[in-house]
Amino acid sequence: MRKTLYLNNDWKFSEIFEDKMISPDYDDNHMESIRIPHSVVTTPFNYFDDALYQKVSCYRRIFTADSRWKEKRVAVTFMGAAHEATVYINGELLGTHSSGYTAFSFDISDKLRYDQPNCIVVKLDSRESLNIPPFGFVIDYMTYGGLYRDVLLEVTEKTYIQDLFVSTDVSDVYAGNADDVEPAAVGTFLHVKTEVGGDTSGCVIKHAIKRISGDIPSDYKDEYKDFKELVEIPAAKLVPFDFHTMPVVLWDVTNPALYQLRTQILRNDELIDEKTEIFGFRSMKFHADGFYLNGRKLKIRGLNRHQSYPYVGYAMPATLQEFDAKILKEELLVNAVRTSHYPQSQDFIDECDRLGILVFMEFPGWQHIGDESWKEQALVNEREMIIQYRNHPSIFIWGVRINESADDEEFYKRTNDLSHELDPSRATGGVRAGTKMQLLEDVYTYNDFSFDGKKPGCQKKKAVTPDMNKAYLVTEYNGHMYPTKSFDDEIHRSDHAMRHIKVMDAIASESDVAGGFGWCMFDYNTHKDFGSGDRICYHGVMDMFRNPKMAAVSYAMQGDSEPVLELTSSMDIGEHPECIRGDIWILTNADSVKMYKNDVFIKEYKREDSPFKNIKHGPILVDDFIGDQLAQNEKFSKGMAEKVKHALNTAARYGMGGLGLSDMITGGRMMAFHGMSFKDIVDLYQKYIGDWGGKATSFRFEAIKNGEVVKTIVKETVSSVNLICEVSSTELNDDRSYDVAQIRIKAVDQNGNVIPYFAESLRLKTEGAVELIGPKHVPLRGGMAGAYVKTRRRQGSTGKLFIKLDACEKIKKEIVFHVKEGVETNV
Ligand code: GAL
Repeated sequence: MRKTLYLNNDWKFSEIFEDKMISPDYDDNHMESIRIPHSVVTTPFNYFDDALYQKVSCYRRIFTADSRWKEKRVAVTFMGAAHEATVYINGELLGTHSSGYTAFSFDISDKLRYDQPNCIVVKLDSRESLNIPPFGFVIDYMTYGGLYRDVLLEVTEKTYIQDLFVSTDVSDVYAGNADDVEPAAVGTFLHVKTEVGGDTSGCVIKHAIKRISGDIPSDYKDEYKDFKELVEIPAAKLVPFDFHTMPVVLWDVTNPALYQLRTQILRNDELIDEKTEIFGFRSMKFHADGFYLNGRKLKIRGLNRHQSYPYVGYAMPATLQEFDAKILKEELLVNAVRTSHYPQSQDFIDECDRLGILVFMEFPGWQHIGDESWKEQALVNEREMIIQYRNHPSIFIWGVRINESADDEEFYKRTNDLSHELDPSRATGGVRAGTKMQLLEDVYTYNDFSFDGKKPGCQKKKAVTPDMNKAYLVTEYNGHMYPTKSFDDEIHRSDHAMRHIKVMDAIASESDVAGGFGWCMFDYNTHKDFGSGDRICYHGVMDMFRNPKMAAVSYAMQGDSEPVLELTSSMDIGEHPECIRGDIWILTNADSVKMYKNDVFIKEYKREDSPFKNIKHGPILVDDFIGDQLAQNEKFSKGMAEKVKHALNTAARYGMGGLGLSDMITGGRMMAFHGMSFKDIVDLYQKYIGDWGGKATSFRFEAIKNGEVVKTIVKETVSSVNLICEVSSTELNDDRSYDVAQIRIKAVDQNGNVIPYFAESLRLKTEGAVELIGPKHVPLRGGMAGAYVKTRRRQGSTGKLFIKLDACEKIKKEIVFHVKEGVETNV
């Protein structure tokens, strides 16, 4: 029977490779002891050069091969080795793999020494001078080196299941264009292609399926509650199987119902191999007017994701890969992600399957197309990507052009044909920076950076695509058009949030645009040619630690699962030039928001007040700081009070220069008929708008849904500071390898508002079963910081992280982690 063993622990690493290290007899005692996932170097947060990770390094691992494996097939698999790995076993060359973003295996059965030490050596070249994608010219992201994904051994019989390709043919169930739908079930076609390795004589194949997740329709009778055998067929090298199922629950972004396929090979009733695959039943189609999921038109609202993290580059274990998917689904409320610009961790995509996030996956590359040998490698990368990821229900399109490259008819005919051959069930796209380029794929996918703050939020389909009969999808917007740091001033951060809203709203208004992906989920380290000079592109709606910027709320508010209420201002007028407040927006998904000033009701803002009519929830402009106070407190008639209010509110928002003729006339009337001097008018302004002197002003906003207050925020003078820590999980599992927890730290005022200019330093200390990744002292950037702790093997079951604010030792946090050591699946 199949056995999967991890080979993640007990590696030796050297930053320098020497030929003699290949020998099993090489004394590697001086080499560093490491665990996988591993990065060839730990990098600073910013201001570092890619030269740091561009090296040829060496990884060595000794393990004992069980003598019971003698008659079996043993393969070693590397899930990710950036970027060119030459692998040896016991001094003998196994082969070279030349892509950092896809997995590869070697059959080592014939090369093992049983009951004796065996030595795997990897010569890893992470230089960007390699003649393989994405290298050859500039790249806007760091391409960190390392054995950064799992390494495993797979032990099977000589006859074994080599590959399973599951696809489904589902008839459309829904109609219309609702975002949310009830679970649905329908009888569908299931197709399985089984590839068998070794001698298949006398063998049969059995397939069974079982539903493993998802809600079910109310009257649903689940035929697949437990594994249900579907068939028994004679085995061969390639065994196709097509089957019409009983009603099955559909996978959808709102109800990601998953099924498991269990395929077995038997010989004379003896089970020889068994492999399982998780998949989903769903229909995904592109039509000229957009994308259809299970029959209904669904507007894609997504973000681009890189797979990098501070300090460790690409090397983060499953838990944090999954956590990014959770952030997308539960904090940013998007329905899609693009894995720009390469295949990302299987753990991340598995979580997208489980959570219901549509995935646009593309093969590695960035603008540059190389020579023939480079292109051949690109095709290998594409083949590996599709074969390795095609069973994921969440993937809805393959990107088969090098991101933003020029037309290349011969090359792109091949990439497009290859995709259709390996996976006829999915559409192809290929991301372009230009309009009206050659379209060989099924969908025109284009980075629309036309929005500059003034122009319309997106281009029209007909201005972009050469073929109106094919679908059109926006794959990037914003990004470098408006880099924004979490410590930028309020106007900038607010504009950033509003730019995302404006593009989303524009895309939503175009009925023939399938949707769009914002650039991008979080800030990322990059090469010298890009970013803000510190090797960071501040393009994220979150910072590198996945702390939300204001623009994160623009996405979060499009969902309904949690009440969202934010304001684009702290209400401190001094933050704005000339103390002019400008446009302040309420970001909410509530029905209405009530605003109070010093507990006096000012105004109730309604959802319909938003000028953004195409997205589900549009921001609402704050246009009144006074309410009925003038009529109540001052000696104005009702009509006059309204006029004065208009003038004062206009002055507050746009300054004296923003006053219109009618406001000027109001000023004149105040002087002429109410005996007010210019000073009296200024005093009135100070009383109701300027808020100088006297009691500090407190603004309270209440979000109301179905008549109830569901969330309240208060903006007032900061009187105390505290730290809030959000931990990805305090329960850690040291089994496959080490586990990591992400800690997001925020400095907040007495009302829980992040205080963006609080830039003090934090001291981080660990004890017990966890240790720190990265520096022991970190600053708060934009009032926010991040930390990572990783488990230490065999160091007990409890670990602690202490966080102290250097400036005030009284402000501190302690986080306790429980570490479980899993069943030893490592060799
Ligand atoms: C695009 C590119 C992305 C990123 C982005 C920045 O042109 O595809 O990788 O560089 O610009 O806005």
